[in-house]
Amino acid sequence: GLAHKDFGARGILPGFIDCHTHMIFAGNRSNEFVLRQQGYSYADIQAQGGGIYSTVRATRAASFQTLYDLGRQRITQALRQGVTTFEIKSGYGLNLEAEQKMLEVAKQLSSDLKLTIHKTFLGAHVKAPEFQDNKRYLNYLSKEVFPVLIKKGLVDSVDGFCEGIAFSADELEPFFQICSEHVPIRIHADQLSQTGSVDLACQFKALSIDHAEYTSATELSQLKENDTVVVLLPGAFYHLRETQCPPIKALRELQIPFAVASDYNPGSSPILNFPFIMNLACNQFNLTVDEVFVGVTANAATVLGLVNKGKLLPSFDADFTVWDVEHPADLVAQIKPWQCHEVVVKGKVYDVHSI
Ligand code: NIG
Ligand code: FE
Repeated sequence: GLAHKDFGARGILPGFIDCHTHMIFAGNRSNEFVLRQQGYSYADIQAQGGGIYSTVRATRAASFQTLYDLGRQRITQALRQGVTTFEIKSGYGLNLEAEQKMLEVAKQLSSDLKLTIHKTFLGAHVKAPEFQDNKRYLNYLSKEVFPVLIKKGLVDSVDGFCEGIAFSADELEPFFQICSEHVPIRIHADQLSQTGSVDLACQFKALSIDHAEYTSATELSQLKENDTVVVLLPGAFYHLRETQCPPIKALRELQIPFAVASDYNPGSSPILNFPFIMNLACNQFNLTVDEVFVGVTANAATVLGLVNKGKLLPSFDADFTVWDVEHPADLVAQIKPWQCHEVVVKGKVYDVHSI
């Protein structure tokens, strides 16, 4: 058994926890990269029916099996890069049928691969194209989508995109009011502009605010009382060539915990390379290597409420990965196609090459 296994002269790290992903989707948005090179912004592309809407069309059209196969390939890649626990959001369905399909794929992957996958309902990603306005759409989610999904056990938390191009804090409030009676809230907050998301996060004692590029130091001080974690997403910042960095100094001064995640998605962070994401956290946001390691393990576990994960200590799950490195910093400092030597999940050697 594992108790007697010799991993040789190698480095062992706690399994990484990717606490913010949009891993289940169909379609391809490389054309948007080309459009941005021509001067169109992320918001321009969405306004023209692309962006999230492009992925919604492809995901609605895809079968369960197609989404399952795509998701499984992506998880396999991430496992080889040391990620042993995942969060996956819906949000490319925007109707009951397609949101349910996405969450059921996540559930099936979790049971087939024997991995912890936290399922987040992100119906409030953008308004579905069939609806006249945000208010009516959120009302539909509250009355006809969320109750069904929660009853089926498909929702561990609820997320909403609070942004000029999605929903305002005022619009999300009544929706979160209903959802928060059942599951915790998370918020895509202040990615492209200041949105008042922090007040909303405080009102609902949100698990996390994610992105937070435009969150001010003053706003952050309010978060402290609520144990809200700030999830930093350097992949989207890098890929969209954003320039406003999240308030890292204030996070440190206020001692607010921060996590780091991939935000893996086809539009704003099409980066399926976890060690590279860790490098970006250092090089784009000035995090230290130690802060990044805590951000992808212990603090990411906090976001997902996983009290037995994220640390290699007695009574914690034995989720760890084995690497041919001289120093753990190698993984962050050197941009290579990293693959770990061995993956162990809950004390069992996980054969990443046969899945
Ligand atoms: O976290 N900000 C909104 N949602 C995703 C992007 C989704 C997309 O572009 O498909 C994000 O960046
Ligand atoms: Fe996201």
